[in-house]
Amino acid sequence: MKRLMLSVVGLVILVTGIYIYDYTGPAQEEAQDVADKLPTVALLQLTSHPSLDAIAEGVVDKLGEYGYVDGETMHLDFQNAQGDQSNLNQMSAKFVGERADLMIGIATPAGQALANASADIPIILGAVTDPENVGLVASNQHPNGNVTGVSDMTPIAEQLALIRQILPDAKTLGIMYSSSEDNSVTQGKLAESLAADYDFETVVKTVTSTNDVSQVGQQLVKEVDAVWVPNDNVIASAFPSLLQQSDAEGIPIFPAVDVMVTQGGLATLGLNQYQLGLMTGEMAAQVLKGEINPATEPIRQGKQTDLIINFEKAEQLGINLPKKLSEKAIPVDHTEKEE
Ligand code: TRP
Repeated sequence: MKRLMLSVVGLVILVTGIYIYDYTGPAQEEAQDVADKLPTVALLQLTSHPSLDAIAEGVVDKLGEYGYVDGETMHLDFQNAQGDQSNLNQMSAKFVGERADLMIGIATPAGQALANASADIPIILGAVTDPENVGLVASNQHPNGNVTGVSDMTPIAEQLALIRQILPDAKTLGIMYSSSEDNSVTQGKLAESLAADYDFETVVKTVTSTNDVSQVGQQLVKEVDAVWVPNDNVIASAFPSLLQQSDAEGIPIFPAVDVMVTQGGLATLGLNQYQLGLMTGEMAAQVLKGEINPATEPIRQGKQTDLIINFEKAEQLGINLPKKLSEKAIPVDHTEKEE
């Protein structure tokens, strides 16, 4: 409050000063010049689903911790493409047109659109599963261009082990992902190849858009004992409609991320989404401060995995959780902003 008072007083003095000494205009231009020197940070979010929203929130919070606050110490141009490819392209072109100092892309398609639009403006990837695999960097260790960032590759083997622990008698595991997302194809194939190690037979079904999720899900839950889904933007966007089908059949869904357990999945050993946002914001701030250079800065891997269980869902599905697990799990309601 005291600070606010001081800045109000300061502002009054400044404005009065401007008025007395230079009311004709140049001072105003000068103020505009100062504002123009604030760095412009462009943030492109692929679409709105709760996980990406949590990541974006983390990015903005961490930038704030580093002293980058929209309207005060930076211009934040925050755009959401609503899952639309032409929006992604147009927004990326707009950022380049306004000569952004730094661009942040949340989710693989957003990172890809930014990288297509500029080969020199620094780009920080937020939660892009495998930047190297989709050609966004020369290698995750040595990016070698204007792009670096944070990967959210999920600990798939640990997740399969968790499913086995919760469902010792399950035979068939459903794997569902979107064939239109490079990040999901990588994870889906990996899960399929690892499933046998945990004694699961698999049924794999793919979707191409949010419109397919309900129908494909309805089929899948009839053929399996449980379903695993990766961090897939299409599925995350239509997750409630998958849950409707799995609930109707009494089948648990094991998603790759914490937020989707909060939404109605049963359990995961997954990366904290908000935390991924914090990591992304930190890299962005470090680039803005000139402390790191994307070309030489390795991709950072999200590390904080939390065991998250939706106890209400377990009860609803009549699943008895091993005591060992329940004791160390974080119940869903407390996961939101865990650091
Ligand atoms: N990893 C995804 C990508 O590369 C983006 C993502 C992050 C995501 N967290 C998620 C997708 C949670 C679905 C659910 O595009």
